[in-house]
Amino acid sequence: MKPIIEQIADHVRAAIAKAVPEAADADPVVKSAQDEKFGDYQANAAMGLGKRLKKQPRQVAQMIVDNLDAAQLVQTPEIAGPGFINLRLKDEFLASSLEAIQTDPRLGVAPATAPLRVVVDFPSPNMAKELHVGHMPPTIIGETIARTLEFAGQNVLRINHTGDWGTQFGMLIQYLRETQPQALANPDSVRVADLDSFYKQAKMKFDADPAFADAARRAVVDLQQGEPATRTVWKSFLHASRQHADEIYARLGVTSTERGESFYNDQLPEVVKELKDSGLAVIDQGAVCVFLDGFVGREGQPQPMIIQKSGGAYNYDTTDLATIKYRLTQDKADWLVYTTDVRQRQHFEMIFAAARKAGWLTDKIRVDWVGFGMILGPDGGPFKTKSGETVKLKNLLDEAEARAQKVVDENSAEFPEAERKQIARAVGIGAFRYADLSHNLASDYRFEWDKMLSLEGNTAPYMMYAYARIRSIGRKGGIDYATLPADTKILLTNEFERRLAKKILQFGEVFQVLVKDLAPNILTSYLFETAQTFSGFYRECPVLQADSPELKISRLRLCDITARTIKLGLHLLGIETVERM
Ligand code: ARG
Repeated sequence: MKPIIEQIADHVRAAIAKAVPEAADADPVVKSAQDEKFGDYQANAAMGLGKRLKKQPRQVAQMIVDNLDAAQLVQTPEIAGPGFINLRLKDEFLASSLEAIQTDPRLGVAPATAPLRVVVDFPSPNMAKELHVGHMPPTIIGETIARTLEFAGQNVLRINHTGDWGTQFGMLIQYLRETQPQALANPDSVRVADLDSFYKQAKMKFDADPAFADAARRAVVDLQQGEPATRTVWKSFLHASRQHADEIYARLGVTSTERGESFYNDQLPEVVKELKDSGLAVIDQGAVCVFLDGFVGREGQPQPMIIQKSGGAYNYDTTDLATIKYRLTQDKADWLVYTTDVRQRQHFEMIFAAARKAGWLTDKIRVDWVGFGMILGPDGGPFKTKSGETVKLKNLLDEAEARAQKVVDENSAEFPEAERKQIARAVGIGAFRYADLSHNLASDYRFEWDKMLSLEGNTAPYMMYAYARIRSIGRKGGIDYATLPADTKILLTNEFERRLAKKILQFGEVFQVLVKDLAPNILTSYLFETAQTFSGFYRECPVLQADSPELKISRLRLCDITARTIKLGLHLLGIETVERM
């Protein structure tokens, strides 16, 4: 089913073509009405058309209305203000639209007819460290985007572009060479927690001791050139990190295929050569640089992207150039998505600009870089433990579950222990995810347990509870929603039923915007509004005690579709629902 907003836009577009053929290409500018008083949708094309055709906008609006053939969908349009066309959906149309999707698991959202190959780059952490709080956003945002695009019917390749290469490994290897030879002799004994502390010490030494820094850089070269002993150590480090990360991904229900930076190592010389041959890369002060239009330093001087340092070493930029080329030419991607913290904005802008100049990236390819802000501590400062350490992701997940367990134990003491445990898991991790996904991604936000675990407000527990409550209505009435007749008649007898029907039918248009903007808070806001609209409905409209059997079954169907909408929406956000809580 086409989203209603688009059905209306089609009709208005046709009316414009008839009313003012010379402007048949005009955007009908159809929007959701802000205030129910003015109807459900507004077509705002008349103002722009008035200017363009040098006519009174209200007069243009009237011409559009006169030619509008949408009596199936809307009541008689009203023209307001300078030339807004206010449109109110007919109840019969709302009811029949809902009837048409009442058993559709996709809730009316058609899958893409020609699936695109999308590469979603996530969570892409740097290895050789334990995952910490900062790794949460790319992991859950990436998963949500991947699920969304999969649901949209695209052909999604989830690629974990791990930082498994480069300076940090050189530091680590050199540090162990100097201080822990026994660990080097037996690299498989190294655990990720050890790596973490070795890494910290190595980093301190690297910053303080130039001789060590040089040696560490030489260790990177050993690694890149495939020196066997260095490679062996490197592999066991990665193995330890990977095991640790996989446990966390499993807890979060996150999957991806690892293709780390090292994967592109052999391709780097070729990429640099190609860019040099085409004149895009030039030698500047001994380094190979790419100069791109529009990128300037603080003093306005052109700012190059360095792709090979004077000593010959390649870097993050070189790897990302090889990566984008590989994804476009080997994976045959039609669409590339990356998610990193906002500080990498310029890096990606430069990569995309260079890839365009190199001719790999064309206008046919969609590219999105989704930047996210920082998770701040409850006091608004950096998020650290009491002793000033970075908060480990594992500890955070443990705490989320433990806190949720307390709430569940208090509120649902009568449930069996295993069920309470399962609910706590879903709530704890769900709360965490929802908090991260329900604000504007690019801004920083505070990590506040009480807020995210609250049963009130725009939170996962509220949404999960709304779902469970709807499911309990069916249970209380001894009705399995799944057995409602597929041709249930939807009766819209009052404004509460009508509002709910309209809200549910908006899922399709919200989903489209979500795919366009890749901003999960579009979905969380919609789900929150849906749950609130449901509350209004349930407060005013008896379901099990409805006045007639027809009304009861219609209302049960409204309950059912609302529950399925919430469940699907939460699933896209990576949040599990439970049947009761
Ligand atoms: N490893 C990087 C980091 O932790 C993120 C990598 C993102 N993906 C990419 N293709 N550069 O900041």
